[in-house]
Order: sequence, then structure tokens, then C-alpha cells
Amino acid sequence: MKLKQIKQATDAAKHQNHFVSLPPAFLKLDIPAAPSPSELDEDRKQITSARIQHFASPLHPNLLDQCLQLFEENMGNMYQSSSWGLDLEEKRKELTHDDARFLLVLSDNDDADDLPTGTESSSQVLGFAHFRYEEDDEDDPKVPVSYLYELQIQSTHQKAGLGKHLMNVVELLALKSHMHKVMLTVFKINTKAMGFYLNKMKYEIDECSPSNFEGEENENFDYEILSKSLVGAK
Ligand SMILES: CC(C)(COP(=O)(O)OP(=O)(O)OC[C@H]1O[C@@H](n2cnc3c(N)ncnc32)[C@H](O)[C@@H]1OP(=O)(O)O)[C@@H](O)C(=O)NCCC(=O)NCCS
Repeated sequence: MKLKQIKQATDAAKHQNHFVSLPPAFLKLDIPAAPSPSELDEDRKQITSARIQHFASPLHPNLLDQCLQLFEENMGNMYQSSSWGLDLEEKRKELTHDDARFLLVLSDNDDADDLPTGTESSSQVLGFAHFRYEEDDEDDPKVPVSYLYELQIQSTHQKAGLGKHLMNVVELLALKSHMHKVMLTVFKINTKAMGFYLNKMKYEIDECSPSNFEGEENENFDYEILSKSLVGAK
């Protein structure tokens, strides 16, 4: 694709919100009851339902803080021991980027039905996805993509289907926005996430992932770039 076409596609995607066309029932989540009380804490036992909501940047400060905190809890140690290091101010900037879009899993436990519209900011964030519509490669753009910058589920609510559901919504929105791929970056050491994306969500190592070029400059990268194509084989 020509650069002009790629930019047109990403610009159009940035101005649309296909989330509103998704059926509400698809955005409701029932969190399964704990298989054994000893395996899960009180929080999880109390929560029975949640909902997915879409937000464009800027996120309400309370929701932003919860996302940042969740990121730190899940990924802090991994980032600290990575080549990138942990820089929470940098992460905050990333989460406040103009093009940032979010899917938040919000707890319905706080009598959300009784809350006036617009007070979602007081809800508890159980998980979130941060994604943006952009070119696949800054230096050599080939196609428009939905780039997943973050996928985080609270540890007490992992393995309950929330991550898969969020990925399904990210992919559906990307498809409706005519993006050619969903792309993401994952640390090699993050074997759980790697297994989730590769085995469960059917992602593949992208052609631009550093592991395709290792040896050429003798660099050892500690991450992979994964992708899933959304266009039919030609
Ligand atoms: C990785 C993560 C996003 C997955 O989300 P999740 O809500 O725990 O995963 P789900 O419950 O939706 O799993 C969906 C399916 O994937 C499977 N799965 C989960 N982890 C897997 C793994 N390591 N290997 C293979 N399959 C896996 C589950 O068994 C489930 O299968 P099922 O639908 O047949 O039951 C979540 O665990 C997480 O937030 N981890 C910490 C943060 C992180 O690493 N984020 C990714 C950064 S790139």
C-alpha cells in the first residue's frame, strides 16, 4: 500500500467509533465462580459481572491511575529486569497519547445501574487494553494496523476469559476499521502471555520482529513483535 493510502486508512479509523455498533450483550461479562474457595480471594468471589467500555484519550484521571497501577503490579518486575527498564512517567505519557484508545473491563459490583451516566470513572478497573490505529512500521510503513500497546488483567481475575474477550473486541474493531493486522510487543520472558497470544489467540511472529534479524547486527533483543492478519490470503 502507498503511504498516502495507509495514512488515509488510519486517519479514518481514528475518527470513527465502531464500538457503539457492538451489541450490548457482547460487552457484558460473567466472571465464573471460583472453582475452589482456597484458590481465589474474597474480591473475586464477590464479583459476578462486569462490562467492557470504550474510551478515547484522555482517560479520566481515576481510570488512568488504576490502569497505571495495574500495569505496575503486573509488569513492574519484568520491565525492571528488561532492556527497557521501568519508567512509570514514560508509561503515563504513553497512556495519555492523543491517539490512545482503551477498552476497560469495569466491575458491575458497585451498583453501576444506580450510578448516573458519566460516573463510570468511579468503577473498578479489572482489566484493560490500550490500542491505537497507526502504520505497522515507522521507518517502512506497509499497512494500517491496530497496535495493542497494553493488555492487563488483574491477577485475581486472570484465566477467567477476560483477556480473550478483550482481544476479540480489539480484533473486531480493527476489522470494522479496515486495519490489515493487529500487532503487539511481548517480552520473550513473559512465557504466559506468549503462550496466550501464540497458542490461544493464534498470533504469529511478525515479519518485522527482531528475532527475524538476530545475528545480522549481533543484537540480542528480549522481545518479539507478534501479529494476526485480518485480511484474507490472496
Ligand atoms: C496474558 C493475559 C492478558 C491473559 O489474559 P487472561 O484473562 O488471563 O486469559 P483468558 O482467561 O482470557 O485466557 C483465554 C484462553 O487462553 C488460554 N491461555 C491462557 N494462558 C495461556 C498460556 N500461557 N498458554 C496457552 N493458553 C493459555 C486459557 O486457558 C483460555 O483458554 P480457554 O478459552 O480454552 O479456556 C493475562 O494473564 C495478564 O494480564 N497477564 C499479565 C499481564 C501481561 O503479561 N500482559 C501481556 C503483556 S504483552
